Amino acid sequence: MASHIEQVYFHASQFPDRVTHEYTESFIRRCINHKFHYHTTRQSQQWLNLHNTYSPTQQSQGYHRAYEQCLHATLDTLRQDRFDLISLGCGGGEKEVLLHSLLADRKASMVNYYPVDVSHALAITATRTMRREYPDLHIQPMVCDLLHADDLISYMPRGGTARLITFFGMIPNFTPATILPILNQFLSSEDLLLFSANLAPGDSYTLGMEAVLPQYDNLPTREWLMSVLRDVGISKLDGDITVTINSDSAQPDTTLKKIAAYFTVRQPVRLAINDQVIDWQPGERVQLFFSYRYTTPLVKEYLDQHGIEVLNNWEFNNQEEGLYLCRKICN
Ligand SMILES: C[S@@+](CC[C@H](N)C(=O)[O-])C[C@H]1O[C@@H](n2cnc3c(N)ncnc32)[C@H](O)[C@@H]1O
Repeated sequence: MASHIEQVYFHASQFPDRVTHEYTESFIRRCINHKFHYHTTRQSQQWLNLHNTYSPTQQSQGYHRAYEQCLHATLDTLRQDRFDLISLGCGGGEKEVLLHSLLADRKASMVNYYPVDVSHALAITATRTMRREYPDLHIQPMVCDLLHADDLISYMPRGGTARLITFFGMIPNFTPATILPILNQFLSSEDLLLFSANLAPGDSYTLGMEAVLPQYDNLPTREWLMSVLRDVGISKLDGDITVTINSDSAQPDTTLKKIAAYFTVRQPVRLAINDQVIDWQPGERVQLFFSYRYTTPLVKEYLDQHGIEVLNNWEFNNQEEGLYLCRKICN
């Protein structure tokens, strides 16, 4: 493969006609689809910078130890000489490179690596990051919207006997009822899933949520979330961003809570997006973003409800992130 070319698969879920429709719908429904926070190369870079600053992964000194322990345990459990790695929502793909580095002292080898992301900039970043370290590895970057890509797995030929699927940092931005059935579909009985969740630290879920609020309620996060609005001509003077802790109204019988960011319109806004004129009136509230925070018992409960069993788990020193080694429950 020439070093100046990457072949990227684009799934139909990210074809321009579909994306254009969903983009317009986000503004009509006053609810921004999360994928549009990673839409442009600039937004992807803004997110990478944020991630480097605020992610529990970066902040906790226990990060490397927790990830290494978990990745070693995963490779022990996999017990396959040859396996494929599928990273769903790969982002910058650093954790997958760490995983590969742990193969050095083992017999196991990675045959194919499939970095999958809705952002082409991030799918390529993850590809290049891995390729720099392991130039001979077969890597097939894929751009797709996981919510609409049931057939994606059929485009990933098996090179090894098992698959390891990573789903790092993904669960916060989807309702569990939406994403977990999709995740289950990716798994077959011989595969392993490595899953991470952002947690509310400490003994009190509510106090834990309040403790992590500043990781979202800060200037760089507001700037990142404003980008999607700026791209259609909205300025900071048109409204205010507020960041709050919410119970999940879609699932009132559970205690799951999320941190949500809203843009409250201050002065009338007229948007012209893809032949549609959309008026936002003062006082209207637009949902920009949400992030669910879990506890380890909640993670286990939700995964179990969706046919996924946790084999082992690790928490960071500061209890802000949990790692879960899982497999499909086969009856
Ligand atoms: C919080 S980041 C996690 C990235 C990486 N796995 C990590 O742990 O550093 C979420 C990632 O999901 C991707 N993403 C968001 N919505 C998606 C969707 N509907 N389908 C596929 N990827 C999506 C984003 O582009 C972003 O790279």
